[in-house]
Amino acid sequence: MIGSGGRSTSTTTAPGRSFLKWAGGKTRYASTIVAAAPDFTGVYREPFLGSGAVFFELSPRRAVLSDANPELIVCFTMVAKDPEAVMRLLDEQPNTPEHFAAMRHRSPADCSDLERAVRVIYLNKTAFRGLWRVNRRGQFNTPYGAYDRPYYNRAILLGAASLLARAELRVADFTTQLDEADAGDWVYLDPPYVPSGGWADFKRYTPEQFGEADHVRLRDAMRRAAGRGVWLTLTNSDTPFVRELFGADFMITPMPTRRDINLRAANRGSRDLIVTNYPLPPSAPATAAAPAG
Ligand SMILES: C[S@@+](CC[C@H](N)C(=O)[O-])C[C@H]1O[C@@H](n2cnc3c(N)ncnc32)[C@H](O)[C@@H]1O
Repeated sequence: MIGSGGRSTSTTTAPGRSFLKWAGGKTRYASTIVAAAPDFTGVYREPFLGSGAVFFELSPRRAVLSDANPELIVCFTMVAKDPEAVMRLLDEQPNTPEHFAAMRHRSPADCSDLERAVRVIYLNKTAFRGLWRVNRRGQFNTPYGAYDRPYYNRAILLGAASLLARAELRVADFTTQLDEADAGDWVYLDPPYVPSGGWADFKRYTPEQFGEADHVRLRDAMRRAAGRGVWLTLTNSDTPFVRELFGADFMITPMPTRRDINLRAANRGSRDLIVTNYPLPPSAPATAAAPAG
């Protein structure tokens, strides 16, 4: 049932690139993850979309993309719909601490969808390390980064727009996609990581924290989907919690990575795990990594 891995009959040949840089984003590992793909024939699903690094690398013909962050989904939707308008409005935004503060404090409820999309890209390029971090009330609270760089690359943004135009985009909890996936679909799951330094080390992407109970909920939804013949690939940190949670029902392979979002030197060399319900293709780089154990 497993083919050669990597691009399957459900993918095209021209990968794109994301126009966002996201905390925990998989840009650097996207080709490793795509090489670990099953030979799926159905829909590609990504329920923790973030910047969509793996979606763009894979460039599938059919995809359902979702995230719990409504701003992110509005941003992708508007880029797909009218990339020229997004770029025009971005060109009007000054890169100053005063304008950053105004954009940061703007309530999405008072903005049009185009303004919300531009706000996401603007904050992503001007906030410290591009971090999308919110407080308990959902208000963006990353400080100004004072970077001298363009807000977008025209070719990347237009390429992303054409790939996104054939995807379905939704605001949803991850369970929705896992529960509606059919046999033959491939679901790539990249949840907020279990912190290798303990739960206090956690990064908040959404007003609701993603805690232990959510990881258990995720494992249970994966079990249900696996029982229906859905292909599943999850990435997470190499921690005893993750190994214990998935060890009984899934295959675990270490993926060596450098956690570049984490400034603490102690965690820089920490590993990630790839959790699957199928053996990785022999050609997948992750297969050559040290065996789990
Ligand atoms: C590690 S990031 C994904 C990064 C992505 N793979 C990339 O390459 O940029 C995790 C994402 O999960 C989203 N998220 C958090 N809780 C969620 C939930 N309950 N359901 C769906 N998405 C959620 C966050 O908004 C964030 O974008």
